[in-house]
Amino acid sequence: MNRRNFIKSGVALAMTSALPSVVLAANPSVGFDYELIVAPADVNIVPGGSTPALSFNGGYPSPVIRAKQHQPVRIRVVNKLNEPTTIHWHGMRIPIGMDGVPFLSQPPIMPGETFDYEFTPPDAGSFWYHPHMNSVEQLGKGLVGALIVDEAEKPDFDEDLVLCMKNWHIKDDGSFTALTTPQNAFRMGTPGRVMTINGDIHPTYDVPAGGAIRVRLLNVDNTLVYDVTSTDSDAQIIAIDGNPIAQPRALSNHLIAPGMRLDLGVIAPSKIGETVTFKHKNKPMVTIKTVASQLENRRLPTLPLNPIPTPDLENAETIKFAFEWNANITPIHKDGKVNYNFWTMNRRSWEGMSKGHIPAPLATLERGKTYIFELSNLTQYHHPIHIHGHTFTVLKSNKKAITPFHTDTVLLGQNETVIAALVADNPGRWMYHCHIIEHLKTGFMGYVEVS
Ligand code: C2O
Ligand code: CU
Repeated sequence: MNRRNFIKSGVALAMTSALPSVVLAANPSVGFDYELIVAPADVNIVPGGSTPALSFNGGYPSPVIRAKQHQPVRIRVVNKLNEPTTIHWHGMRIPIGMDGVPFLSQPPIMPGETFDYEFTPPDAGSFWYHPHMNSVEQLGKGLVGALIVDEAEKPDFDEDLVLCMKNWHIKDDGSFTALTTPQNAFRMGTPGRVMTINGDIHPTYDVPAGGAIRVRLLNVDNTLVYDVTSTDSDAQIIAIDGNPIAQPRALSNHLIAPGMRLDLGVIAPSKIGETVTFKHKNKPMVTIKTVASQLENRRLPTLPLNPIPTPDLENAETIKFAFEWNANITPIHKDGKVNYNFWTMNRRSWEGMSKGHIPAPLATLERGKTYIFELSNLTQYHHPIHIHGHTFTVLKSNKKAITPFHTDTVLLGQNETVIAALVADNPGRWMYHCHIIEHLKTGFMGYVEVS
């Protein structure tokens, strides 16, 4: 076994026991901290079944990458697929060259090629990584993983659980069912059949009795919007989509759409063997169970806020974006494939990109200026709208009261209009799309240019 593939040992292991973590290169002279080998692998998701997945480092769940706020991290990606790929670091406000979008920010990583990503995370929190090519299949078959950026000063939790939510599109023998169908792509997308946390069906994790527990829920699924509730009425929402909130509040229920994350703070029950279960609607997803500890009178630490630039609303320019259903459902034949365009952003359906062809941006933003995006969902379905390289400040909705918060992925309910501001401080061409993967594949994608 390669030295880099060893699991971190000792204290670090105990603190991150929910998922295997690849070890930092013992010798910094190798030039990278993490290595992700992208390759097909058979993984075990359903009991007794085998799933012909695509994997990072040969398994699922994917390795958790742990970076540190304000410190550079170097990640080597080796493509052993028989098709090109790139890796996008979802939610990271980093330079465009590291954003992992083929043609727009880098050439595709061809089969057999290697690409080194290096960036310094400005924000701490729960983020994730995934390819940005052939997404229905590459993400749907398992190329999704957690990227955790630890705070410059680590908050005092007794356990930190990283929980990736994914509903696998598989049968009882593990083989794949259809990842997409046109009928579903023009509605809510094709749901998977097997609900998993870190690749396990309703797992239970041990936590120290009475401990302060951080529970990070990451929706790495292609399709499903999880409606999360807890059997512990004191569970607190402490961060939304990677960004701590100033006033933690009790979780009653919270929608986590594809691409989105939720960090909860929980004081574990003080008696041994007690449980707290987190559910999707009424279906148990994951349980934590207390084991003996010496902990007493623990409180949830306060998370430092991320340095998101404050929008200058007085001098902001408003841009309207209409998200609509495309009346034309006739398939388009392109590159020998059948393509469907079901969705439009400001009357445009994403036409795809190639080396010689990059469509025009949806909007051009002046660097340093504040923009107010008026995001109108004129469809009967919900859409999590994601922007690269920037963080929105969500201000208002025509459907519900909003306490302003920061996110890279705004969930628009049916016929909902949301007002979100951003400071266009990161130069480059930034993808801007729905994170229901079948929706971005069938039109709901574009980009904005900051220059
Ligand atoms: Cu997580 Cu462009 O996406
Ligand atoms: Cu959508």
